[in-house]
Amino acid sequence: MFYEPKKGNPFKIDPFKSLVFPRPIGWISSISKDGLSNLAPYSYFNAVADEPPQIMFCSNGSPSHGKYKDSLSNILSTKEFVVNFVTSDFRNQMNISSKDFKPNEDEFILSNLKKKKSKLVNAPSVKDSPVNLECKLVKTITLKSNSKKISTMIIGEVIGIFINDKFIKNNRVDSVSMRYIARMGYSEYTTVTSKFNLKR
Ligand SMILES: Cc1cc2nc3c(=O)[nH]c(=O)nc-3n(C[C@H](O)[C@H](O)[C@H](O)COP(=O)(O)O)c2cc1C
Repeated sequence: MFYEPKKGNPFKIDPFKSLVFPRPIGWISSISKDGLSNLAPYSYFNAVADEPPQIMFCSNGSPSHGKYKDSLSNILSTKEFVVNFVTSDFRNQMNISSKDFKPNEDEFILSNLKKKKSKLVNAPSVKDSPVNLECKLVKTITLKSNSKKISTMIIGEVIGIFINDKFIKNNRVDSVSMRYIARMGYSEYTTVTSKFNLKR
């Protein structure tokens, strides 16, 4: 099968996201100028550079979001945010935090998650995330859009890194024991449970 996305696709559901997987989930916490916390998962997310460490995620807002989703609105006004990670035990809370809540509704409270004060930014961290990446906004890039969607890539510099000590063994990070979940297509997810080594 071959198709050109701009001419449509032969499926009932656009399969694009089930072809690029597993996508890590950046669970982005931010705070508004008025001090209201916000938390939402983004799987158009990844690490993109390491000197200095930088991450990106993409927000696909539409007119129903009042142009931008809350995370992006907060980040544009405060220039900072935290990337948290979803472990298998917290999949339901992650799912609740993805609901389209109003800007004045705090997803930490609605999804019953504990906040932790971040060290270098005002946005709170998710206490039960094995890792918190405290970020400063570097830039936003408006992506191409064929629809009313406004797709914005947000690039952040990681200025502070918390790693729960229980995941550090022999001076290395024991990634698999964190049980991160990642997104596939449709409503499918996977959990990272195995690894193998391949020396370059
Ligand atoms: C696992 C998962 C991944 C998601 N990834 C994205 C994404 O990459 N970009 C996006 O715009 N929305 C994504 N969403 C939807 C947002 O989480 C949702 O629109 C949320 O309400 C946005 O919250 P905010 O307005 O507080 O930023 C995802 C949802 C789930 C459950």
